[in-house]
Amino acid sequence: MRDHVFFYLNGRRHQVRGEAVFSSLTDFLRGDRHLTGTKVVCAEGDCGACTVLIGQPASDTLRYHTVDACIYFLYQLDGQHVVTVEGLADNGRLTAVQEAMVGQHGSQCGYCTPGIVLALTALFEHQHRPGIDDLRLGLTGNLCRCTGYLQILEACLSVDPAALVPLAQRYPTQAIANDLREQTQDPMLIPHGRRTVFAARSLEEALAFKARHPEAVIVSGNTELGVLRNKKNQDPLVLLSLTGVPGLAAIAPEDGAIAVGANVTWTQLERFARDAWPEFYAIILRFGSPQIRNVATLAGNVANGSPIADSLPFLFVTGAEVELAGRRGRRRVAIDSFYRGYKRTELAPDEILTRVIIPQPGRDELLRLYKVSKRNDLDIATFGAGVRVKRAGDHIERAWIAYSGVAPTVVSLPRTEAFLEGRPFAEETFAEAGRLARSEIQPISDVRGSRDFRWQLAENILHKFWFDCAAASV
Ligand SMILES: Cc1cc2nc3c(=O)[nH]c(=O)nc-3n(C[C@H](O)[C@H](O)[C@H](O)COP(=O)(O)OP(=O)(O)OC[C@H]3O[C@@H](n4cnc5c(N)ncnc54)[C@H](O)[C@@H]3O)c2cc1C
Ligand code: FES
Ligand code: FES
Repeated sequence: MRDHVFFYLNGRRHQVRGEAVFSSLTDFLRGDRHLTGTKVVCAEGDCGACTVLIGQPASDTLRYHTVDACIYFLYQLDGQHVVTVEGLADNGRLTAVQEAMVGQHGSQCGYCTPGIVLALTALFEHQHRPGIDDLRLGLTGNLCRCTGYLQILEACLSVDPAALVPLAQRYPTQAIANDLREQTQDPMLIPHGRRTVFAARSLEEALAFKARHPEAVIVSGNTELGVLRNKKNQDPLVLLSLTGVPGLAAIAPEDGAIAVGANVTWTQLERFARDAWPEFYAIILRFGSPQIRNVATLAGNVANGSPIADSLPFLFVTGAEVELAGRRGRRRVAIDSFYRGYKRTELAPDEILTRVIIPQPGRDELLRLYKVSKRNDLDIATFGAGVRVKRAGDHIERAWIAYSGVAPTVVSLPRTEAFLEGRPFAEETFAEAGRLARSEIQPISDVRGSRDFRWQLAENILHKFWFDCAAASV
């Protein structure tokens, strides 16, 4: 059993024990290591000023992605290589991305600049010459309040790919990957004062720990928990990490369905959904930012049980199930029976959510997903909807409807579904169904929208579904 976190920082080995293990990566970098290039503005994953690169062993090298260091904690860094803005230049020589930002005047006060440089570095690591849409999307997690994005985008477009030095040339990534693997084989158990974090290396270990510590909070990407800690001072005393448990990071077919492991991130889902679930793919692109998607998991989204979680309308209308493992073995629960109330679920204290199993909708079925939010990017939903219809000729054979943001949990609309079944697939049918849908929900007013607005959306979205399907069939 290891009593320390092991990682590399800008190419140098680190072992950290004790209290520091529980600090945010920004506090560690700035306060402990005096690497103040990593900035903090919002401390809740919104602005990207704290963006750093995290390299994870992948075959014989490291694969880098961005994270928001303000909601990434030291215990999450185990077995990884973190690169900050100070770790980019080689012997004082700026990288091609940094040169471009200087040359195109992509920086004024400079507060956002290190984060933007690291976000761009990640983009160029993965794509030789990213297009303008990739660049825009790649920067949705980085706010600049004074330069304006024109110069920043011009800087991106002026980068000469031939002048880029990949991180695998800047650092001995193969040697680092091997060392990281070797040094982190054992599970990690770090008690300090009243706090403990345990990183299991097998599901059995994780379940045994959860049985001994039913109060343990499972930490996956930490994007929910990290914000609660920074903004609400909610700091669980016992943490259980599943990140090192093999087999939980897979997306695999199973009996006509797709099983998504508890460690699968939204970035992994994004790659898979591009071909498999185009409607869900469009929602994923609007989920958080690249920094959030790189670490946040589907399991965390489901287990958190927010009534506006982006995955849930899709999971409800496809009839997904969650797999729960505990002392008494494994069980499966239908997603629409999993929630007992606002952020309350069926999960027993000894249980872990291990997989989400998503049946594949039929190829001839119609499926549309909607997310209504104040901003297109990096915003959570005011209202969301999933609508799935199976047709038999001109009639509707079956319908599945789920709404988010209209009740303490995401809800199905059984009366509206029953109304649709057997009726003609026609505009009037959906207009009528929309009016009925209003009576099945009890929305509240909050900062994101009024009760009346949500009622109107609940009605209009079914009408819109008909128009969208009609337009697609022309
Ligand atoms: C800036 C920002 C933007 C965001 N944007 C969106 C958005 O657009 N749409 C959206 O829906 N959400 C959004 N979120 C919320 C959050 O990112 C998602 O809910 C995410 O999927 C949570 O996953 P995680 O792995 O980070 O969960 P964590 O924070 O690690 O955990 C969340 C909860 O789930 C529990 N949990 C995690 N894994 C398991 C498991 N395997 N078994 C049992 N319980 C488990 C934890 O104990 C905790 O209670 C955003 C958050 C931030 C900070
Ligand atoms: S400080 Fe804003 S995302 Fe971290
Ligand atoms: S340069 Fe000032 S916030 Fe971007």
